[in-house]
Amino acid sequence: MKILAIETSCDETSASVVENGRNILSNVISSQIPIHALYNGVVPELASRAHIKNINIVIEESLNKAGISFKNFDKKIDAVACTYGPGLAGSLLVGIMSAKTLAYIYDKPLIPVNHIEGHMYSAGIENSSLKPPFLSVIISGGHTELIIVKDYGKYVFLGGTRDDAVGEAFDKVAKILGLAYPGGPVIDKLAEFGDAKKVYFTRPLLKGSWDFSFSGIKTAVLNYSKKVDIKNRKTVNDICAGFRRAVCETVVYKAFQAVEKYNLKTLALGGGVASNSLMRKMFKEIGKNKKIKVFIPSPVYCTDNASMIGIAAYYKHKKSAYGKNNASLNPKPSLDLQNW
Ligand code: KG4
Ligand code: ZN
Repeated sequence: MKILAIETSCDETSASVVENGRNILSNVISSQIPIHALYNGVVPELASRAHIKNINIVIEESLNKAGISFKNFDKKIDAVACTYGPGLAGSLLVGIMSAKTLAYIYDKPLIPVNHIEGHMYSAGIENSSLKPPFLSVIISGGHTELIIVKDYGKYVFLGGTRDDAVGEAFDKVAKILGLAYPGGPVIDKLAEFGDAKKVYFTRPLLKGSWDFSFSGIKTAVLNYSKKVDIKNRKTVNDICAGFRRAVCETVVYKAFQAVEKYNLKTLALGGGVASNSLMRKMFKEIGKNKKIKVFIPSPVYCTDNASMIGIAAYYKHKKSAYGKNNASLNPKPSLDLQNW
């Protein structure tokens, strides 16, 4: 079964053709980073406009890379999937309208997918041995969540962030330090040259809860940065190293606590921050020591991409076949995780 999946929830326009929930025949991503970098964050209106400009090109390129065109779409594609939330309303709308149109023209089922479910199953794109039950650790620009995936479509939400998402904290700290947007990859790079022991930030562990909170640590960086010279590269590198270590230790500590408490044997990371080099290293090392299988997607599948939407759509469709009449599908910017 071949699914054309479309993802436009934030600032990446992406389309992918996924075969049988496993083989990625194409994964085209058009990033809007240069547009939003000027403003140090995603500007929703600019994001929607860029999606409109790019969506047709991205879809066509993703079909072509999979050896498909609009002429043989009908024969080659079995269903169309798209992200319908959570995300920016205008951005989501572009992907939904494109998916609806294609599903309507070619008379194919339309499978609506929750963006978070895409991240959840993204570690299975390159490693098909990832199967529920597992602990899903979603660490992205908009989310920081611990979710038990009991089965495909059967979730237990343990906790999420009470304020800033982990990626958001990286981006805001980068702004404080005068670094480029998005801040996560920049801080990750600079931290490699810094000494984490030089600057200690308290780990926000929120004992007794599975929730996270990163705004305190961000304020701690702000206060610290006022006392030192942030024009000094060495100082900035040390702050980056101290901040990165504090954030990674917090996420890793809570994730493995949850794995142990709920007697899980497998853990899967998803979301842009899963491409952080220290985060990857710590999860791998501790997983090995504790004999927990850790699945981490390659960086291209950590950040937003349509392949992960295609995989989630495949499992959804397998469980409850989706119909062709989905004209009422609308963006759900604050969509919660739902069981199916
Ligand atoms: O998953 P994603 O593409 O978008 C959301 O769904 O939010 O994640 C984007 C986030 C940004 O905040 C970015 O700074 C962060 O992922 N990020 C990183 C790294 N690469 C991307 N954060 C830390 N270290 C990285 N290497
Ligand atoms: Zn995302």
